[in-house]
Amino acid sequence: MTMQTRLLTHIKQLVNIRTHDRPLYGKEMAELPCLENAWLLIEGDEIEAFGEMESIKKELPKLPEEQTDCSGRLVLPAWCDSHTHLVFTGSRENEFVDKIRGLSYSEINSRGGGILNTVQKIKEISPEQLFLESWKRLEEITKMGTGAVEIKSGYGLSLEDELKMLRVIRQLKEKSPLQVKSTFLGAHTFPMAFRENHTAYINEIVNDMLPVIAREKLADFIDVFCENGFFNPEESETILKEGLRYGLQAKMHVNQLNSIGGIEKGINLNALSMDHLETMTSEDILKIKNSGWKGFCTLLPSAAFFLRMGFPPARQLLESGCAIALASDYNPGSSPTGNMNTVIALACIQMKLLPEEAINAATLNGAFAMGLGGSLGSIMPGKLANLIITSPVPSLSYLPYSFGSNCIDKVIIRGRFVA
Ligand code: NIG
Ligand code: FE
Repeated sequence: MTMQTRLLTHIKQLVNIRTHDRPLYGKEMAELPCLENAWLLIEGDEIEAFGEMESIKKELPKLPEEQTDCSGRLVLPAWCDSHTHLVFTGSRENEFVDKIRGLSYSEINSRGGGILNTVQKIKEISPEQLFLESWKRLEEITKMGTGAVEIKSGYGLSLEDELKMLRVIRQLKEKSPLQVKSTFLGAHTFPMAFRENHTAYINEIVNDMLPVIAREKLADFIDVFCENGFFNPEESETILKEGLRYGLQAKMHVNQLNSIGGIEKGINLNALSMDHLETMTSEDILKIKNSGWKGFCTLLPSAAFFLRMGFPPARQLLESGCAIALASDYNPGSSPTGNMNTVIALACIQMKLLPEEAINAATLNGAFAMGLGGSLGSIMPGKLANLIITSPVPSLSYLPYSFGSNCIDKVIIRGRFVA
């Protein structure tokens, strides 16, 4: 079979072009290299080359048949959403209304609602149906420009049901053209039966779940919810250390509702990312700054928005030299959307990220935050051709400015139009 060659021409602005790349820290995040009036050549599933329209004749003596005129449009790397829980079933709008009436997130959790509500539904659903529902969400986010996604387990909380979730994620990996990464989140909350016996559940994670998950290669990363009423810093550390023994790098849900000492654990464990960070003390930020930790602060503004919380201190984190990634947290409890365009807009509006910073955080840093920086997240020859073509827009800043509007016209995944 011959490889399909495709040329995008007259691109108003080709966004996030790099000749070599690595994660972006602090001030570097404000630099978003772009090329005006550009062309881009795709060969098979990869980006082959790009350049200026002025010199296209010289650089590409023989133009391919498949051409797409991108006049007035921007072309960007597809979004890299490095934190989601999109394998779930059922919705929780009843809790949404309870919250409007005044109940807090932790009150809902302690009544057996929240995460445990979804856990019950996961027990009842067949793997086939769970796959179909999750597949629909993958299709939905693809249309909104997402080209790579990390998905967590964590609504199973027993060997059988965690495996059910992780095997669905594996099926999604195998069948979807998107790049999918899998994270084991057995430590999302304590199941009802283990509320008073934390050690027993942690032993179950460590002795029963982890060995099988590692043997079947069902996870790329391990995660915990480090929070009051969930896993304390010591319990989190125990679980993440065990994960590391199996080669699973650590991620953390940390400092979402309270600052209880999880940041220090994440630094010491060399976590790939520490996620949420809505509730950061100045000591927490200082600790990160002085530690030399090179992981990602993954911020989830749609979850903060949905839960009516204060937003993470993005500017302070940047001033401290951190690498920020933006992700959707797509899940039925705290962010029932996987729309990365909304996430980017919220990051600019509520956390005062510059559009350039937000786009770097949702592409290049997002890719690195799930171990995909080598193949995704920027416009670079040799990387996968996962691309967004916008509708005609006046400028890059128009994307977050026109929040709620759909500026995405076409999406290319592995060199093919998928939306
Ligand atoms: O990332 N904070 C913990 N876990 C999820 C919420 C899960 C749920 O409510 O179902 C989060 O926000
Ligand atoms: Fe989450």
